[in-house]
Amino acid sequence: MKTTQKLATFLLTAIVAVFFLGLTASAQQAKPAPWPVPDKDKALKPAVKLTDAGVIATGKELWAKHCKSCHGSKGLGDGPKAASMKTFAGDFSSAAFQSSTDGELFYRTNKGRNEMPGYEKKIPEANDRWALVAYMRTMKK
Ligand code: HEC
Repeated sequence: MKTTQKLATFLLTAIVAVFFLGLTASAQQAKPAPWPVPDKDKALKPAVKLTDAGVIATGKELWAKHCKSCHGSKGLGDGPKAASMKTFAGDFSSAAFQSSTDGELFYRTNKGRNEMPGYEKKIPEANDRWALVAYMRTMKK
């Protein structure tokens, strides 16, 4: 084989290998790493009553608009965009998720991380973001 042919074969093999590696990587979603929240934010108390039916209804509406596409309607991490995420968006009905404080859920919604967008700017009213926390509390099994 000529050197140019060898080089072409090598390159082709490398491209195919990278392609398949990419495929297997996207097929395996990473489990989310622990997401620490500063103590002050962790202890923050909700500015609205989380069990109020009106608050929950507001949260549900915002959830459908901003969150459902990834997290799914019941927060099981099965929204239409979920399959293309590198990281599993989480099962919000789980005891592990529900054991986070209200302040932690509020903080993570506000700040985001990696594929999870932050909503401080997109949902400017803090009470609306608290309403989302109220809605996430209804996902408990
Ligand atoms: C583009 C997809 C996407 C959208 C839209 C999205 N999320 Fe997420 N969310 C994720 C992913 C992925 C993670 C896991 C991120 C990580 O742990 O690195 C996550 C994590 C979270 C967490 C932390 C989970 C935990 O265990 O504490 C909360 C809370 C959360 N999202 C709330 C929301 C809310 C509320 C909205 C809508 C206002 C929303 N997300 C919209 C993808 C999304």
